[in-house]
Amino acid sequence: MQAVSIPASVRLSTFYSNPLNIIRRMDAAGVSGFVLFNRLFEPDIDLEKEELCSPFNLSHDTDYRLPLRYAGLLEGTVRASICCSSGFLEGEQVARALLAGADVVQVVTALFKSGVSHIQTMRRDLDAWMGEKDYASASDCRGKLSKRHLNDPFAYTRGQYAALLMNPREGLEQYPVP
Ligand SMILES: Cc1cc2nc3c(=O)[nH]c(=O)nc-3n(C[C@H](O)[C@H](O)[C@H](O)COP(=O)(O)O)c2cc1C
Repeated sequence: MQAVSIPASVRLSTFYSNPLNIIRRMDAAGVSGFVLFNRLFEPDIDLEKEELCSPFNLSHDTDYRLPLRYAGLLEGTVRASICCSSGFLEGEQVARALLAGADVVQVVTALFKSGVSHIQTMRRDLDAWMGEKDYASASDCRGKLSKRHLNDPFAYTRGQYAALLMNPREGLEQYPVP
């Protein structure tokens, strides 16, 4: 990182065997920001024509959970800024990213689907949520639900998943299958 004088961010792959380890090493090397995560192009197969095709690969509305988890794990543990990317389609998902500890989010799919003016809708909905919660600025809520700030941080680990499987009836009551 000493080779450049401008801030440099890294858009990370999801395929590291230990993402937190590589992030901490890059943070120590002076990276200015981490984008969670890069998404490589994924071709599909057209069954009728039996040939490869190139769909847009737009995001789905729960894709934000992976970057959300890593933002929550990283908040307060790295010097670099944390950027969430993938599945941030509405203002409420941006609010979740802030609570987990993100500094910023990137938005592509929402703009493809709804047009660039959708950013204003997301901003308005985020402002409305912050108003309801009496947050005057993003820094008032950023990281409030990061691993560092939770008394019981197991939602960020596999522990919570195992607990749900041990009590499936209770889990289904709390999180009904849509
Ligand atoms: C049409 C399209 C073009 C994209 N082009 C690039 C690109 O050139 N470089 C890149 O790093 N990501 C590219 N992406 C991936 C997006 O930057 C982003 O990682 C992905 O769309 C997930 O974010 P989203 O949920 O906001 O769409 C592209 C995505 C789409 C849908």
